[in-house]
Amino acid sequence: MRSSQLGVGVVGYGYWGPNLVRNFAGSTAARVVAVADRDPLRLAALTRNHPGVAATARYQDLLDDPAIDAIAVATPAHSHYDLALMALRAGKHVLVEKPLAPTADLARRLIDEADRRGLVLMVDHTFLYTPAVRKISELARKGEIGDVYYYDSTRVSLGLFQSDVSVIWDLAVHDLSIVDHLIDEPPVAVSATGCSHVEGAPENMAHITLFFDSPCVAQVNVNWLSPVKVRKTLIGGSKKMIVYDDMEPTEKIKVYDKGVTVDASPEIAQQLRIGYRAGDMWAPNLSTREALASEVEHFVDCVRNGATPLCDGVSGLRVVETLEAATRSMAGQGRPVMLGNVTQARNARRATA
Ligand SMILES: NC(=O)c1ccc[n+]([C@@H]2O[C@H](COP(=O)([O-])OP(=O)(O)OC[C@H]3O[C@@H](n4cnc5c(N)ncnc54)[C@H](O)[C@@H]3O)[C@@H](O)[C@H]2O)c1
Repeated sequence: MRSSQLGVGVVGYGYWGPNLVRNFAGSTAARVVAVADRDPLRLAALTRNHPGVAATARYQDLLDDPAIDAIAVATPAHSHYDLALMALRAGKHVLVEKPLAPTADLARRLIDEADRRGLVLMVDHTFLYTPAVRKISELARKGEIGDVYYYDSTRVSLGLFQSDVSVIWDLAVHDLSIVDHLIDEPPVAVSATGCSHVEGAPENMAHITLFFDSPCVAQVNVNWLSPVKVRKTLIGGSKKMIVYDDMEPTEKIKVYDKGVTVDASPEIAQQLRIGYRAGDMWAPNLSTREALASEVEHFVDCVRNGATPLCDGVSGLRVVETLEAATRSMAGQGRPVMLGNVTQARNARRATA
């Protein structure tokens, strides 16, 4: 790094790119040097919002610029792999939008390239940086939820239809990254069903079920063709249950001291006695900090200190592997597809390399 601030380039200034630019620009530890977008109207918008940032239609300009230490890739999903690989080969650290790559094989290639060059590769799994998910994760780590029995999420709204990926590669990525973060065991199988209602377009609605060795189950319902926007997740644990409603302006998380107890004493072995616990509910106070502000700070910190990001390439790979398996299952009308443990596979590959 040539100056005390990390020099950042951003490729893609459509819907999401401006959020990355604004947050990098707002960080004292970083400086947005240049933004590339093929669309002149988007570059004009950049210049209006950030007059001091260089605007270019050529991605190569970012790769060639020695003042740029890191590149954020915020283009449509099908281009993530190529653009991220070019950035790594140019010696730049990379923050790439979700999903990391279109296949697990290509995700592994990005990880290997970053490892070989000693560069940071991080995936923008934004939800892991939201105060709500951080609080849920903190409660889980402290053992307050107990064993997680289920994760049951509904993430539906009208649009934004993507032409290059199905709804699971767009919306379910968020839930799969949260599940990967919260649940301490890898899923062993996935089953998914989905449907397209626009001729020639990928599936716009889908239901995914992740199975684990334990009785835990994760269910994700994603849909671009819903009349209302719902962002609601139920997390059931042996000790507490959580309702996480991202549409709530303030009380996004409600923790319920509710559950069941089973009395299976020998005298009543023939008769299962379920007791219901209906205790208090509380809504933890959450920070109002924007998730992306925490995330870009974490990215800069990882580059500076050589630390491994929370959403490193391997966590991106685990999510892509699940998405790939879910896509195969959808093609087979919900037939379960077994999942390997990618972390183990990677370690084994390294050990034999
Ligand atoms: N993390 C999140 O919560 C979140 C939210 C929304 C979108 N996203 C991700 O952000 C990415 C972009 O989505 P979007 O909705 O902003 O898309 P978009 O289509 O609105 O914007 C993409 C921009 O990239 C530009 N572009 C495409 N290829 C280019 C290239 N090779 N060189 C230069 N410019 C190029 C386009 O001109 C366009 O302006 C997607 O991967 C999406 O999954 C993430």
